[in-house]
Parts: sequence; structure tokens; C-alpha cells
Amino acid sequence: MKTRQQIVAGNWKMNKNYGEGRELALEIVARLKLSDTKVVLCTPFIHLSLVQELINGVSNLYTGAQNCHQEDKGAYTGEISVEMLKSVGVSYVILGHSERREYFAESDELLAKKVDKVLAAGLLPIFCCGESLDIRDADTHIAHVEAQIKAGLFHLSAEDFAKVVIAYEPIWAIGTGRTASPEQAQDMHAAIRALLASKYGAEAADATSILYGGSVNGGNAAVLFAQPDVDGGLVGGASLKADEFITIVEATK
Ligand code: 13P
Repeated sequence: MKTRQQIVAGNWKMNKNYGEGRELALEIVARLKLSDTKVVLCTPFIHLSLVQELINGVSNLYTGAQNCHQEDKGAYTGEISVEMLKSVGVSYVILGHSERREYFAESDELLAKKVDKVLAAGLLPIFCCGESLDIRDADTHIAHVEAQIKAGLFHLSAEDFAKVVIAYEPIWAIGTGRTASPEQAQDMHAAIRALLASKYGAEAADATSILYGGSVNGGNAAVLFAQPDVDGGLVGGASLKADEFITIVEATK
């Protein structure tokens, strides 16, 4: 068993209608075995309050949102606030997913504001970073990810930083079936941890959960999670099937 908190978060993205989401959450709740690994169901907004009710009382099972707005409330048609999320019992918010950065033009500056808003509400950010294939091929991926982390997180106090979960998700591995090799994941996670240590000290860096995301499935999770600096996963497609998602949770060390 690793000493650092292991976390598996399922990012349902824009999948599952209300009934399908209920069914998936019920199946996960029924079959998940008690363990020290935290499991987070990051559902579309419509499911959050129901899923939160279904998981109430189940230890180490949490809900998460996939995004939130940076303002408290007001005339922002189509958006959701941290207070709204908090009012249904949500614990985590994914921020800076590459799909949000790319399709919704979320900048580093905007993400830093969202991080602040989430933390101020007492919620926990799962902060995503990761490079495109071009950047990986140019061999500048580590500098790219470091810049994302500095811009999104390094304004935080040590106390606030301690609440952050980081997810490294190489864009070329998301939804492509092409996962990073365990060595590629480990190299990046170690680089991220070294960067965190340079800013917040070795102890804080050591305590930070860094998740890997990008085509994690029941077959490759164990070898990825066995890497010393990989503390679980942020799972897309494979989180939509209860069987496979549970296999992934059980692959944590
Ligand atoms: P896939 O697991 O479908 O590749 O998605 C990864 C992801 O983007 C999770 O946030």
C-alpha cells in the first residue's frame, strides 16, 4: 500500500442521461469494495444531486463536477457556481481539463481564478495539465506542463495548495486508446513533484496526489498505478462501465 492518498476519479464527460447515470452510480455503489482509495464520480451536473444521495454514507466515495464558473452568481446563462455545487454535497471540481482549455478557450489566467473560487468554497480542485502531441514530439512537454502548473496553482498559499489534486493528462492519450507508457507517466509525474517541491517544499510535494489520465482501462491501470509517483487515475471512457471502473479502482496500490 502506498502511503500517499490514492484517488480514482471517473470523468463521465457529456455522457449518460438521467436514468443511465442513476443505473451506473447504483451499480458502482453496490459493487465497490471498501478500501483506502478515494473514488470520485465526476458526473454531468444533472446527475450530481441524485448521485450524491446514492453515495451518502459510503466511505471514500465522493462526487465531483467537471467545471464551474469563476464568479459567485449572476447573469451567466448556462453556467454553474461553486455554491450551487456545494449545496448538493459535491466535494471535488475538475478544472483545466484539456477539453475545456481547447473547446471553451479556458486560459491559465481564468483557471487560476476558478481554482481560487473552488478553494474559497471549501471544495477541492482536480487540476488538469498535459501536452499535445506536437509539444511531446518537440520534447518540450515537461516545460509546457510546468508552465501550466505555475500559472494555475503557484499563487496559492501552502495551506490552500495542500488541498489540490493534480491530474496529468497527455492530450494525445485522451480517448485515443494510446496510453502513455508507464515510464512516460512516471517521468512526468516525477518532474511535476520536483516542481512542487521547489515551490512548496519536499513534504508538501510528497503529500500531493498526482493522477494519470489518458486511455486508462482495466488492462493497463495496474502497471500505471504501480509507478512510484502515479497516485491513481482520472478516467474517461472506462468510467462509463461499472465493471471496468471497479477493476481500475482495485488496481490502485
Ligand atoms: P479517456 O480515459 O477516455 O482517455 O479520457 C481521459 C480523460 O480525459 C479523463 O479526464
